[in-house]
Amino acid sequence: MNPPRNKIARGIFLSAGVIVPAIVFTLSGVNAQDKAKAQGIAQPHGSASASGSEEVLEDKAAQVGFELLLTRPYVNSEFTDELFSNLWKVWEEPARTEAERATAEERREMTLRRYGLTARPDGTPGGKSQHGMPLQYLRNADNEWVVNCFSCHGGKVAGQIIPGLPNSHFAMQTLWDDVRASRFSTGDFSLKDLAGGVLPMGNSNGTTNAVIFGVLLGARRDIHGDLDMTRPLPDLLLHHDVDAPPWWNVKKKKWMYADGFVSTENHRSLIQFAMGPENSGAKLRSWNRDFEFVMAYIKSLEPPSYPFEIDSELAAQGERHFNQVCAECHGTYGEKETYPNRHVPIEEIGTDRARYDSLTPQHRQAFAESWFADYGRSPVVTEPEGYLAPPLDGVWASAPYFHNGAVPTLWHVMNIQQRPAVWKRTEDGYDTERVGLEVTEFETLPANVTDARVKRTYFDTGLFGKSASGHDFPEQLTPEQKRAVLEYLKTL
Ligand code: HEC
Ligand code: HEC
Repeated sequence: MNPPRNKIARGIFLSAGVIVPAIVFTLSGVNAQDKAKAQGIAQPHGSASASGSEEVLEDKAAQVGFELLLTRPYVNSEFTDELFSNLWKVWEEPARTEAERATAEERREMTLRRYGLTARPDGTPGGKSQHGMPLQYLRNADNEWVVNCFSCHGGKVAGQIIPGLPNSHFAMQTLWDDVRASRFSTGDFSLKDLAGGVLPMGNSNGTTNAVIFGVLLGARRDIHGDLDMTRPLPDLLLHHDVDAPPWWNVKKKKWMYADGFVSTENHRSLIQFAMGPENSGAKLRSWNRDFEFVMAYIKSLEPPSYPFEIDSELAAQGERHFNQVCAECHGTYGEKETYPNRHVPIEEIGTDRARYDSLTPQHRQAFAESWFADYGRSPVVTEPEGYLAPPLDGVWASAPYFHNGAVPTLWHVMNIQQRPAVWKRTEDGYDTERVGLEVTEFETLPANVTDARVKRTYFDTGLFGKSASGHDFPEQLTPEQKRAVLEYLKTL
């Protein structure tokens, strides 16, 4: 939800209004073509046709939200274009020599890949000022890079770059370690760079300690969201990594976040991303309207369709089993869509509980009473029983699975005993047999993997918060039935 303190604590303070004065009111100025274009990008498969005027307004709001995310800086800049282009100089061998020998273009590609950043899909709004920027960062008026929501919420799967897809490649910690190292190498570092080594950002690429960033930053805000640095930090800080949920399911859900404690009507909750100390409470509150647009954008997204072959007969069998065993929690799909918004008690679900334990009833209560929940008017579940069973639309694309991203494929979700203790993905491989990430499996972390950066390219379920256990409901199915359900899941 939020970037770590050190990310946002550095650099020059920027008033967003200076950069894109033209956006918010573009609500009245968006023409139909632009809108269609934005919809096309936002909705890789199928776009809602705007028939009623309400729908037209919603479409416009969605387009404005998308543009805001790609052009307006809500947090401080992190580094310059130049620093990013020279990061390779602090890489280990042989990567450094390879980068040195590469052309500038290849080097750029290698750099983006190392940190889990992607190009912006063709036609993405942003204009000239954003030329050449990855989806996950924007360029501010001083030509510096500012992280945006797509760092965690936009990525690639099976050859497609999809805004709203959890970024299962994002190597936030590695990027920050390299940025820090490159500042040390020039002597151009600040105390904040030093502090940056303290707060863990994520131990496995593709997942981040985002929930704890939010807990920490929120602790220093009063009920109105105003900064108060004298407030104590919480006693309980369970650092753990979470896999962002896909945005296209937000519109279907009544509640958001893994434990479903905040209403999906609550756009203010999303402003927590910008709670770093550079932003006053007044600044955060001034973005209320922006985030109505951002929420409209999020709710406009449609799940991407499975791009490979599907055995429709087998899938039809799978649907019957799914409806018997899975639908009570995950709902039904197709003509008769239902979605129960069910919280499943933590003992019953049995997946990793660090995320559940990391937010206390006191934390949720303070959130409920604050401006971020409209002073109690926006519903908050202060004591959720467990995790929310998410909708499974587009589930083929959002691997790895569960809130902590511990399970690499849907086959592994279905076959509990076979879930790997340690796995490592390939860069772009998609496993159409097991439906999900193409991975190599290990019983333990290979002994020669000692470097912290390399460790983060493995998912080690033995680490705190990373268990792949639980959710044993598929055990009610025979192996053939599981195969059929797996086929059916491709169709959602
Ligand atoms: C550092 C990574 C990161 C960044 C940056 C980030 N998010 Fe998230 N986001 C997450 C994670 C992780 C979750 C899941 C949190 C949980 O379950 O408690 C999440 C959850 C959400 C959800 C709820 C989705 C659901 O279905 O429950 C929304 C909506 C959302 N983020 C929007 C945003 C917006 C808008 C921004 C930018 C203003 C943003 N996020 C920036 C990581 C991030
Ligand atoms: C009793 C409720 C319940 C039943 C029954 C159930 N699930 Fe789930 N399911 C959940 C919950 C809760 C989660 C979220 C767990 C987490 O993230 O830790 C989940 C997560 C999942 C996920 C991962 C989704 C993601 O985006 O990460 C898949 C896939 C899934 N379930 C498939 C199934 C299938 C297939 C069945 C039937 C064989 C099934 N579930 C039965 C409650 C249920």
